[in-house]
Amino acid sequence: MENGRASTKPISQVTCTAPVNIAVIKYWGKRDEQLVLPINPSLSVTLSQDQLCTRTTVAASVDFKRDRIWLNGQEQSIDTPRLQKCLGEIRRLARKRKHEEERSGDLLGCCVHICSENNFPTAAGLASSAAGYACLVQSLARLFGIDGDVSHIARQGSGSACRSMYGGFVEWTMGRAEDGSDSVAKQVAPAEHWPELRVLVVVVNAGKKAVGSTEGMQTTVRTSALVAYRAEHVVPSRQDDMKRAVLDRDFQAFGEITMRDSNQFHATCLDTYPPIFYLNETSKQIIHLVHRYNRHHGKVKAAYTFDAGPNAVLYLLQDDVPEVLALLKHFFPANANNDSERTFVRGLPDVCRKDV
Ligand code: ADP
Ligand code: DP6
Ligand code: CO
Repeated sequence: MENGRASTKPISQVTCTAPVNIAVIKYWGKRDEQLVLPINPSLSVTLSQDQLCTRTTVAASVDFKRDRIWLNGQEQSIDTPRLQKCLGEIRRLARKRKHEEERSGDLLGCCVHICSENNFPTAAGLASSAAGYACLVQSLARLFGIDGDVSHIARQGSGSACRSMYGGFVEWTMGRAEDGSDSVAKQVAPAEHWPELRVLVVVVNAGKKAVGSTEGMQTTVRTSALVAYRAEHVVPSRQDDMKRAVLDRDFQAFGEITMRDSNQFHATCLDTYPPIFYLNETSKQIIHLVHRYNRHHGKVKAAYTFDAGPNAVLYLLQDDVPEVLALLKHFFPANANNDSERTFVRGLPDVCRKDV
């Protein structure tokens, strides 16, 4: 529909959903802003789609006068470099395919309308850009009949989105090539590889963060000496250690590396000038609680990680979920904090089982 008038001409429409992924080795910094190439490799867990996900519908019609996008019911500008890049790349592939196969051509002359909803807080440090761009690119690819891997296009929408194109444990290699051809997302292991692993998402503040990830990491790369040290001397070996921990289902190593990497990422934010504070007092209390809990048991039973926002993601094993949930509910009863600090806990039954 354009301007609310019903159309008599056919409309092609596709709806997809995509899950979020939460990194245990964090991506923070680009070496190429245009191609979205990272300064270090990263590794994440893609969560179950039936919990936190994006749902996107894309439609094409000759009636549409221009490309348009709505996010969570509000129209947004389509003229952002990232959206234009994704639309442009998809249309380029569709044109190439049309040339080769004499198919999918009829939609090429059409404008598209994109309607996307996140069922979790947007721009709050819960990877909305990852699920959002993974879903957008997947839906457009299906609409235009493009087969094969399109994670390199999702990456150019938001770096972390390339990892949401796969389920389970996913690495994003740094790559060396100038054109980005070897900076790709790959599944390290499917979700079924570690069925006892659980994730608790603790929403501390559902509001939009003050500094978006794109801008935040730009300032960090420009001003922090620590982030350069981290990329060169810490992450490469940590990535290998993490892959081994995942493959061996070694929760002690997995948990410790996860917490150390989250802490170092937030240290680079503090080392940014002017500093960026993503963690708040509640986040820090959660960190203390997890360390007290682990110390009490004499081993790592739960591991926290925080993206660019105050909301905690806890990794733990199935048997420990009731105890950790009870602890969180005891120390952070729902709505016990002030208005802006809603605290509640959501348990994910398992990690993702499906590819996008
Ligand atoms: P987050 O920590 O949630 O990933 P970012 O700062 O990385 O936060 O990105 C937030 C931005 O990502 C939003 O302001 C919006 O531009 C984009 N975004 C989020 N969800 C979607 C979506 N479903 N579709 C398209 N873009 C989205
Ligand atoms: C802290 O992928 O959101 O969540 O590429 O600029 O869109 P852009 O940034 P984005 O950054 C994610 C940062 C992080 C860590 C991670 O997911 O690896
Ligand atoms: Co993001």
